[in-house]
Amino acid sequence: MNDFLVFAQNLAKRGGEKLTENFGKLKRNKIQSKGAHDLVTVLDKEVEQMYVNAIKKQFPDHGIIGEEGSSKNEDAEYVWILDPLDGTRNYTIEVPFYATTICLLKDKEPVVTVIYVPPLDKLYSAAAGQGAFLNGQKIHVSNETELIKSSILYCHSTDQHGVEAAEKYAAKLKMAAFNADRFRSAGAEMGMVAEGLAEAYLLDGLPVWDLAAGALLIREAGGKATDFSGRQWKPGDKNILVSNGTGIHWEILKILASVL
Ligand code: IPD
Ligand code: CA
Ligand code: CA
Repeated sequence: MNDFLVFAQNLAKRGGEKLTENFGKLKRNKIQSKGAHDLVTVLDKEVEQMYVNAIKKQFPDHGIIGEEGSSKNEDAEYVWILDPLDGTRNYTIEVPFYATTICLLKDKEPVVTVIYVPPLDKLYSAAAGQGAFLNGQKIHVSNETELIKSSILYCHSTDQHGVEAAEKYAAKLKMAAFNADRFRSAGAEMGMVAEGLAEAYLLDGLPVWDLAAGALLIREAGGKATDFSGRQWKPGDKNILVSNGTGIHWEILKILASVL
């Protein structure tokens, strides 16, 4: 197996163990506000530091972009994108649905993804050209072709524009699809699409650590990842629609275009 993938899997497992150990034990004074609608806990920071230390030791010339501020050599050939605790809000209110995400870019394209969902002990992984896996078993997106029978997931930026737009497209999707939900962990929701539990997931106005890992996972699981105009998603794009790649992808893009 790809050495980078093995390294990332081991690291994500260690990060996940730390999150599990501390779940439900966070004191209020260990939770801070990063913005009006954005939280950070001591766990987000400690797990990111654990990842950064391991990467620096093992791959000293690699770059790093971490949600909690770690930044090193961002233009390097290899760059690690880290979201140590994805679903911080859920974690702080003791909703057991969160993930820890590690993605490696090579020449600005995702080549390795590990998304670990500790409460469900689900480890999703993918390496470019080698398929997508859940706990070592190959996975594939669903083959549903009808939007009305499809489960759609969504999340959005928390500024006024993002919130108001979401109200509009969520209302349309809830009618056109079987349902449309928001579960607050981008990584865990990407995993749901990759293993066929949901048909599509859209993220509107989110940073690269919420998008890159899932884009590779879904493509390797046989699905599609585009921006909202239907072009192949690439790091730097803030919007993404991932899906099982059937006609529903284009139907959802049409709905988005009608409100955005
Ligand atoms: C959040 C989650 C959530 C999304 C938020 C993100 P965080 O990440 O991915 O699903 O709706 O916008 O910020 O901050 O918990 O890592
Ligand atoms: Ca996140
Ligand atoms: Ca996070």
